[in-house]
Amino acid sequence: MKVISAIKEMHEYVDKLKRRKHTIGFAPTMGALHEGHLSLMAAAKQANEKVIASIFVNPAQFAAGEDFEKYPRDVKKDLKLLKNTKNVDCVFTPDPKEIYPDGYATYVELGNEMPKGLCGATRPGHFKGVTTVVSMLLNIVKPDRLYLGQKDLQQAMIIKKMIYDLKYPVETVICPILREKDGLAMSSRNMYLNPDERNTAPALHKSLQMAESMIELGERDPQVLVREIKRKLKEANVEIDYVEVVDPDTLVKKDRVGSRSAIAAAIYVGKTRLIDNTIINLKE
Ligand code: PAJ
Repeated sequence: MKVISAIKEMHEYVDKLKRRKHTIGFAPTMGALHEGHLSLMAAAKQANEKVIASIFVNPAQFAAGEDFEKYPRDVKKDLKLLKNTKNVDCVFTPDPKEIYPDGYATYVELGNEMPKGLCGATRPGHFKGVTTVVSMLLNIVKPDRLYLGQKDLQQAMIIKKMIYDLKYPVETVICPILREKDGLAMSSRNMYLNPDERNTAPALHKSLQMAESMIELGERDPQVLVREIKRKLKEANVEIDYVEVVDPDTLVKKDRVGSRSAIAAAIYVGKTRLIDNTIINLKE
């Protein structure tokens, strides 16, 4: 497994793969890798000749006062994990100074409502940072397919829209959410949870599962679903950021659970912000 930090070297490596007509699958990450991340690379391995992963804690997507400084970083451990999977051919670990050199001034931002709702409401500017870094990474890695997790549904849909609008010749593949045994969605931020908080955290997934059951029994009113999810979350004593029923592709709020809907939610367990979602596909 190759590890490359310089952009120039990455261009050379990728150009060589292109000359050999290898297809490239790419999974960008911020490190502190877990099985959820590794599942993206496994999916990429299935469909591409070469798999490139990146590890870069992107300062532009953290607001002042967020956890950029304390975001878990252990590149050595991450590289070992990636090597052991045998699914990754190359890891790009760029130097922040090369991604954002002094005087860096260009940002990629969706001009529609997609980055404003859900997580965007409490994290203004977050998705601008994400789309900016991902557009740079796409220019450097030039993948055929980009692998993203449904765990970050809003992020995945915003990136997909950016790729469509900016005509990147890239297919976006959205992979299922990997969970711990008790249902908690795997996340690098789960490391912040103390044992009590860790016990509480699965309430988020449980509340979404309850809503899924209600939908199975015929409930179609988002207001009722959101009210019941919030009631269940309050019972668990967590702070609710949002619970919404949206169209999973456009992220527009739905006034009825139709053939395709998503329920997305964010909570704080102690100081840790956790997100989760479920996509509902109805036959009707
Ligand atoms: P990060 O949080 O490290 O996540 C990297 C990728 O792993 C994202 O596509 C995310 O959705 C996916 N992922 C995280 N947890 C997952 C889980 N439990 N199951 C499946 N996939 C999971 O998301 C980012 O980094 C950054 O914003 C990035 C896109 C790299 C841009 O900086």
